[in-house]
Amino acid sequence: MMITKDTPAHHPIHDIIKNRWSPRAFNKESLTELELSQIMEAARWAPSAMNEQPWRYIVARRDQTELFNMMLTPLAEGNSMWAKDAGALVLAISQQNYSGSGNPNRHAYHDLGLANAHLILQAEALGIRSHQMGGFDANKARELFEIPEGFEPLTYIALGRQGTHDHLADFLQEREAAPRQRKPQSEFVFQGSFGKK
Ligand SMILES: Cc1cc2nc3c(=O)[nH]c(=O)nc-3n(C[C@H](O)[C@H](O)[C@H](O)COP(=O)(O)O)c2cc1C
Repeated sequence: MMITKDTPAHHPIHDIIKNRWSPRAFNKESLTELELSQIMEAARWAPSAMNEQPWRYIVARRDQTELFNMMLTPLAEGNSMWAKDAGALVLAISQQNYSGSGNPNRHAYHDLGLANAHLILQAEALGIRSHQMGGFDANKARELFEIPEGFEPLTYIALGRQGTHDHLADFLQEREAAPRQRKPQSEFVFQGSFGKK
């Protein structure tokens, strides 16, 4: 059985945003080279402070078996146990200093997140789901992929078509079926002063 999720939005929002969620059940079908290029192109066109474009990505499609398996190794066990079924894996990295001046870029993480948002929404538009993961060994990733100093590996993104969830471990099936929840806007949208509704 394939899980479907309800998004109880309080206002109408774009279907791409409404329908996106982070599954753990992928159908083991590789992304094509074109699909992955299209998805990365969306990240390319994200805005960034000073147009610095501090994002860097290491990518592997499922059909690139050796590269794909290499990308699985830094993942926490609780993630690799389902991410192994993804159609592609992406490691998102941010450059911490401006390339021109060498000064710290305090928007580096912000802009990487923005590029990632473009990436996952473009994927959703292509019928490809995404699931981001902070659970991985950053030192191991740095070593394995020879990530230079000044660049921080931040987030993995599993991409792929959703599959049935019956084969997942029980605790993962439970998480998979849990209802979607968010804070109400009154808890994060303020006027006049911080915290004031
Ligand atoms: C930066 C980041 C790190 C995350 N790390 C993990 C992770 O290590 N393992 C996991 O299963 N989900 C991880 N998630 C997924 C979140 O738990 C998920 O996005 C959140 O619960 C909201 O659910 P939704 O994406 O289905 O709307 C991560 C998400 C983000 C954005």
